[in-house]
Amino acid sequence: MSSFEIIEMHNEMLPEVKALFDLIYPNDPVTVKRLCYKTNTQNHLVTMLAKDSGEFIGQANAFVKEINGSINNIGFHVHPLFRSRGVATALVEAVVKKATDLGHTKFHIITKASNMAAIRVSRKLNFTVETDFEILQNIVFNKIIF
Ligand SMILES: CC(C)(COP(=O)(O)OP(=O)(O)OC[C@H]1O[C@@H](n2cnc3c(N)ncnc32)[C@H](O)[C@@H]1OP(=O)(O)O)[C@@H](O)C(=O)NCCC(=O)NCCS
Repeated sequence: MSSFEIIEMHNEMLPEVKALFDLIYPNDPVTVKRLCYKTNTQNHLVTMLAKDSGEFIGQANAFVKEINGSINNIGFHVHPLFRSRGVATALVEAVVKKATDLGHTKFHIITKASNMAAIRVSRKLNFTVETDFEILQNIVFNKIIF
């Protein structure tokens, strides 16, 4: 059942990546456009894709943002029909591994306080709530690799 693989995104995959985001965010072309970036976009660090039977089913990414030094902001998105199978967890784990291999140590996940699936993914990967940095109804999860 969980036969997906995780691969790094390259720019030639962008048409298939767009097709994935059109499915995840069918009524939100602005978000789809924002997520269909090239790997040489400013501050982009790494993007990983999950693939099942030749089809892209999820994406996770890290962008560098500057708060008290270099912190990487992680986003993740999974095709609705493939959720609750560990896809996002595997994707975020792969992003953190790749970024850590590149020498990065600090990671944030910012999610709505109502997004129970994203909160669960963050907790499964041992991110902890950064209590001194909350934005409106978002929670900021924090992970530092020593
Ligand atoms: C958040 C998201 C990426 C999770 O993807 P996923 O592949 O289903 O995640 P995983 O399967 O790795 O883990 C999800 C966990 O949340 C749990 N979960 C799902 N819905 C839940 C809910 N409503 N309440 C509590 N837990 C929930 C699942 O059971 C699973 O936990 P488990 O492994 O302990 O059973 C997916 O829901 C999504 O794409 N949402 C829209 C985009 C989004 O919100 N991205 C996050 C932005 S930071």
